Amino acid sequence: MKNLESRNDIEFLVNAFYDKVSKDEKIGFFFNDVAKVNWNHHLPKMYSFWESLLLGEASYKGNPMAMHFPINEKVAIEKDHFAHWIRLWTETVEENFTGELAEAAIYKASNIANLMAHKMEVARRLR
Ligand code: HEM
Repeated sequence: MKNLESRNDIEFLVNAFYDKVSKDEKIGFFFNDVAKVNWNHHLPKMYSFWESLLLGEASYKGNPMAMHFPINEKVAIEKDHFAHWIRLWTETVEENFTGELAEAAIYKASNIANLMAHKMEVARRLR
């Protein structure tokens, strides 16, 4: 199995993950139907996001939390959806990569997902 270590690896991982997500029964519709994501824009942002988190390149400029509130307003993104997102992410990392950065990718995603799930829930309560 390959060590996760480069921008190329991150692009491979992100492509494999969103390939699953876009076809996924439980969360695919958020991307395809609710947000109607333009994958040509979304994927490069995600490469940069993960490159910034894992390789310390400050290539991502954006606010990952903010992007999710408008989606959450249309259709609630629930705890179960985040748990499923994390399952798919963990599975995709583990199918393709090993090493310290592979572990960090899983760990960091879980932390962000938990925080995001919490913020989405609070936003719905305040609505
Ligand atoms: C079920 C859970 C999630 C759903 C349904 C979801 C959905 C989306 C959608 C539809 C977009 C694209 C918005 C657009 O360009 O119109 C997006 C962007 C993004 N998401 Fe998520 N997301 C989820 C979880 C996460 C998690 C856990 C992370 C981080 C670990 C994350 C990180 C990002 C980032 C960095 C962007 C790009 C923001 C930007 O444009 O700068 N998402 N998400």
